[in-house]
Amino acid sequence: MRTVDLITKKRDGGELTEQEINSLIRGYTDGSIPDYQMSAMAMAIFFRGMTPTERANLTMAMVHSGDTIDLSGISGIKVDKHSTGGVGDTTTLVLAPLVASIGVPVAKMSGRGLGHTGGTIDKLEAVPGFHVEIDNETFIDLVNRNGLAVIGQSENLTPADKKLYGLRDVTGTVNSIPLIASSIMSKKIASGADAIVLDVKTGDGAFMKEMSEAEELASCMVDIGNRVGRRTVAVLSDMSQPLGNAIGNALEVKEAIDTLRGVGPEDLTELCLTLGSHMAVLAGVASSKEEARDLLEQSIASGSALDKFKAFLTAQGGDASLVDEPERLVTAKYRIEVPAKEEGFVAAIAAERIGLAAMMLGAGRATKESQIDLAVGIVLHKKIGDRVQLGESIATIHANSNSNDEALAKIYESIEIRPQPVAPPALIVGEIK
Ligand code: URA
Ligand code: CA
Repeated sequence: MRTVDLITKKRDGGELTEQEINSLIRGYTDGSIPDYQMSAMAMAIFFRGMTPTERANLTMAMVHSGDTIDLSGISGIKVDKHSTGGVGDTTTLVLAPLVASIGVPVAKMSGRGLGHTGGTIDKLEAVPGFHVEIDNETFIDLVNRNGLAVIGQSENLTPADKKLYGLRDVTGTVNSIPLIASSIMSKKIASGADAIVLDVKTGDGAFMKEMSEAEELASCMVDIGNRVGRRTVAVLSDMSQPLGNAIGNALEVKEAIDTLRGVGPEDLTELCLTLGSHMAVLAGVASSKEEARDLLEQSIASGSALDKFKAFLTAQGGDASLVDEPERLVTAKYRIEVPAKEEGFVAAIAAERIGLAAMMLGAGRATKESQIDLAVGIVLHKKIGDRVQLGESIATIHANSNSNDEALAKIYESIEIRPQPVAPPALIVGEIK
């Protein structure tokens, strides 16, 4: 079939067959289908949507467009977690050792971040010596021995998605639920996941700002996973304010250590226990969420979660003694307090703007080539609903430059204080399986 016929078929609301989707993705990946035809197809999908079968077929076609990692050498059910963006999201750093400590094998492929803070790998590199440049054999061996390892993302993971995402970015077709869902699921499946727990964020700092859209995206991803034989569960969580208190790489490593020690922020702890419980059930190490949660809480209380984090850092060359002395993590030269300009109750902390402020300080990458400063960032002292006094510090800026007016202005812009009491938002707002 000619590509133009596939485009007109979708344009007119038809359903593409598995074979048609495979040939489209194969042709686009090898360059025989040009960008202009794929742009037209993406726009047709944007307006016409995709059937559940088409979405599953598109996902698997993208999985097979490049390398897939074979984790069959690791015994047990490999459960991966994915969060759809978010600001100051430290969950992976906590969850990986936490669930590994109760017997869930964690074989994680991670990338570097683009945007407000670094990705998991950038954050882990705040621990001197830690590296993810290990070969597949070592990776699998480490997971078998320690229950946990992180490897850098293969350059050739889902190349069709990489190319299509770039194209969507410049053709107004990013915001299509079937395209987002298949993009995310293809990467998880190509990275070897047998089962997947999704953390779909909703609210200001999220990709899907409306609850209804977040629910639709979550259902769509769960449906794809289940159709292609990967049990998938989605948790919907609030991102109307940053998660935890720290936004910035080394600051988030410190926050993760606190959380593994049992003294971390309440919201981050709760989200990790919720996601971790689902992971443990999917992996078959607990028979119910309640049983899983007990195991996870005990692991934090007994110190096994923290020990697992240390063993993991050591195995990949990191200086694990930092975990007991987090004050030795890189720190920024300047600390600037952000005093409240009025008294009252915190009504909003616009997560996206706080994220942007952190990026201005150097915590994130504006472009793929930017260097990130691991030491800088923002630590919030207040959450929505908290009372503040006039002049009381709402946040501390950690900076390596002494001119931070722009970041400071952004922080003020993002925080709203009202005279009347404000109810804190619920953190876990839904679950789809
Ligand atoms: N994140 C992805 O990985 N893919 C999308 O399409 C959107 C967000
Ligand atoms: Ca955080």
